[in-house]
Amino acid sequence: MNRPSLQQRDNSVLWHPFTQAGLRQLPLPVAAARGSKIILEDGTELIDAISSWWCCLHGHGRRELIEAASTQFKKLDHVLFAGCTHEPAVALAEKLIKILPAGFSRVFYSDNGSTAVEVAIKMGVQLWANQGAPRTGIIALENSYHGDTFGAMSAGARGIFVSPFEKLLFEVHRVSTRADQHDLARFERLCQSGSIAAFIFEPRVQGAGGMIVYDTAAIDRYSEVCERYGVITIADEVMTGFGRTGPDFASSLLTRAPDIICLSKGLTSGTLPLAVTVCGEKVFEAFISEDHARTFFHGHTYTANPIACSVALASLELFLTAECSASRQRLEQAHRRCATKLESSPAIENVRVSGTLLAFDCVTEGDSGYLSKMGRSVGDFFRTKGILLRPLGNIIYCLPPYCLTESETDHLHSALLEFATHLPPAT
Ligand SMILES: Cc1ncc(COP(=O)(O)O)c(C=O)c1O
Repeated sequence: MNRPSLQQRDNSVLWHPFTQAGLRQLPLPVAAARGSKIILEDGTELIDAISSWWCCLHGHGRRELIEAASTQFKKLDHVLFAGCTHEPAVALAEKLIKILPAGFSRVFYSDNGSTAVEVAIKMGVQLWANQGAPRTGIIALENSYHGDTFGAMSAGARGIFVSPFEKLLFEVHRVSTRADQHDLARFERLCQSGSIAAFIFEPRVQGAGGMIVYDTAAIDRYSEVCERYGVITIADEVMTGFGRTGPDFASSLLTRAPDIICLSKGLTSGTLPLAVTVCGEKVFEAFISEDHARTFFHGHTYTANPIACSVALASLELFLTAECSASRQRLEQAHRRCATKLESSPAIENVRVSGTLLAFDCVTEGDSGYLSKMGRSVGDFFRTKGILLRPLGNIIYCLPPYCLTESETDHLHSALLEFATHLPPAT
């Protein structure tokens, strides 16, 4: 009898994220990954054009990261972080504070983007309770995505991802990225009411909401109002952090630094789960007291895992090299050249580049959004070209690792152009 394949064994025991098993698309059997490529069991190589959900900054199998992990593993694998500390956690926090926009001084560890956001929202709300002036209102942007836990889902836009839970989600006030007179007047009224604790936003690019690139002047206008009413500002840089969308941190584009910043994904270059929620002394001091009730009672088992922190430090070293910034610039320039060519295709619209992100919308006849039928055929098309892409419905984007070589970049862009040229224009 033939041994069952990996896909058959998977099909018997696994449940995949964001995947409808009833629609039977078999997962790719991945055996290895090196540099920008993932390698399937049969030896097929695919360019990881979305950096494995936007996290793999420096490519797969980086020697420096492997060495950092194995050296740390031999010294200290894990220890609880309540009542204990260790060198990798302290060193990483010191380094992050140095490279983040000014004003950040306290790092709180967790282990994924959603928990980084939960922590930020809880900090933003408890800060007010601790000051004896409770506020629980949250303002967020339309089309936002902040993760899949309940607080993060509440802050995110409503839609198919969260509809079964709607009654369980807390209410959030929404404003647009236009920040026009109407938005600002409403924003101001909300803040004036004295009930708003925090305003959360993805700066510069809204990722899962559709790779929407917007002008951060909108956040400046909202933040100015927040400052007047003491509302805490939270920048969710889980996706944009570490140079993904241009600057090292998208928050550096803002005239007022946010009070809290959330980072994950690129923090360990996609190797180990780790996240940080970073704030300044204003937030931290609201929790300092001899009264236990003012403690931030939040923590996860793997908080500040030493191996993950060591890899994050090694990843930061790579990120700060001149070679890495040159690669990011090269990628952005190549994306811009490709975007100019893509713009002439009548079948696509809204071509946009922000740092290492290149995205466009396929023109459809009403079948747009995350569930657009296009999604699957697009993935199939690019796989035949040796590229792994996972579109957001009719929105096609790439966000490759910074180590993508020039020939891999050319190949990716040629495939995007071929796709856009052969796509029948919507009638
Ligand atoms: C902006 C943003 N925040 C939070 C998250 C959630 O991160 P995670 O999937 O690690 O929970 C994501 C994930 O895509 C994200 O893009």
